Amino acid sequence: MNTFLTRFANKAAKFIEKGGIVAFPTETVYGLGANVFDEKAIEKIYIAKQRPSDNPLIAHISNINQINDLTSEITSSAAVFIRAFFPSPLTLVLPKSKKVPLIATANLQTIGIRMPNHELAQKFLNFCDVPLVAPSANLSGKPSPTTWQAVAEDLDSRIECILQGETTEIGLESTVVDCTSDVPLILRAGAITLEDLQKIVPETRFHIVSATEPAKSPGMKHKHYSPRAKVYLVNLPILEIQKNSAFIGLKSPNSNFKFVKICNSIEEYAHEIFAFFRECDQRNLSSIYCETVEEIGLGVALMDRIKRASEN
Ligand code: TXA
Ligand code: MG
Repeated sequence: MNTFLTRFANKAAKFIEKGGIVAFPTETVYGLGANVFDEKAIEKIYIAKQRPSDNPLIAHISNINQINDLTSEITSSAAVFIRAFFPSPLTLVLPKSKKVPLIATANLQTIGIRMPNHELAQKFLNFCDVPLVAPSANLSGKPSPTTWQAVAEDLDSRIECILQGETTEIGLESTVVDCTSDVPLILRAGAITLEDLQKIVPETRFHIVSATEPAKSPGMKHKHYSPRAKVYLVNLPILEIQKNSAFIGLKSPNSNFKFVKICNSIEEYAHEIFAFFRECDQRNLSSIYCETVEEIGLGVALMDRIKRASEN
C-alpha cells in the first residue's frame, strides 16, 4: 500500500491546505474531502473517484457560521432543520453563494450542506478551517466505504491521505433534503427519517422522480452501490437459490448459502450492508440475496440502497 495513513487530524489537514484531497470518517460513510473554494482540488476528487461531472458534492462544516459563506439564503425550513438536527446525518440543499465554485455543485445554483456528528470528522474539519466538499470515498458506482480499509481498496494510489478512523456508525449516506422551496423535499433517504423531519416541518415529502422533469438530485440517476455479484431482493422462505450465493437479512433463510449474515435490527442491517457487499466480492460469490424490510423509518433508506444495487 502506498497510501499514507495517518491517525492525526492535524496532519491530514495539511494536505487540504496544500490543495490535496483526504479521505476521512464520518458517522454515515467515509468521505473524500477537498477545500470547497479550491477548484483544482475539487477536480482531483472527480478524477480519483471517476465520478460523472454532473453529480454535485456536499459541503461539510464543523461550525454553524460557515453556512453563511456557502449559501445566499437560509430558507425558513432550513433554519428550523438546522436548529433541530445539526450536527447529524442530514444534508440540506440551499441556494449557493457566489463564493462557491460551480465545479463543487456540478453547475447547479444550489449546494448541499451537512455538519457531521462525528468527533474525528469535526476535529479534522476544524483544523482545515474551511468547509470541505466530500462525496463518499469509493470509486463511482461501488458500495460506499464504511471502513478505512474499504477506502484503500478503491482509492489506494489515487489519493495521498486517509484519516484512519473506526468503522462508521450508521453505514448509509446522509438524508438529503431540498429546502429551496416552501415544501421540503427528501431527495435521498437516510438515517434522519421522513417521520423525524415531519415532526419539525409537517409538509416535508419524498421527492417523486418524474421521467420528464430534470433530476433534482443528479446523483440519484447514476449507477450506485453495486458489488460485482448480482443482488436480488427476496422474501422468506426462499425456494430456489443460485449456486455460490450469500444471504443477508433479519431472519434465518434455512437454505444452503455459502455466506450468511443475520442482523438483529434494521439498524444493524443498514450498518452491515455495504461491508457485506464488499466481502461477497472478496469471496468471489456470484449472487447476494437481501431480505426485504418494511419501508418505514430507516427501512426506507435501506431498501433504497438495496433496490439500486439490484438494478445494476
Ligand atoms: O453521508 C453522506 O452524505 C456522505 C458523507 C461523506 O458525508 N457523502 C455522500 O456524498 O454520500 P455523495 O457525493 O456520495 O452523495 C451526494 C448526494 C448525491 O446523490 C448528489 O446528487 C446529492 O447528494 N446532492 C449534492 N448536492 C446536491 C444539490 N445541490 N442538489 C441536489 N442534490 C445534491
Ligand atoms: Mg456516493
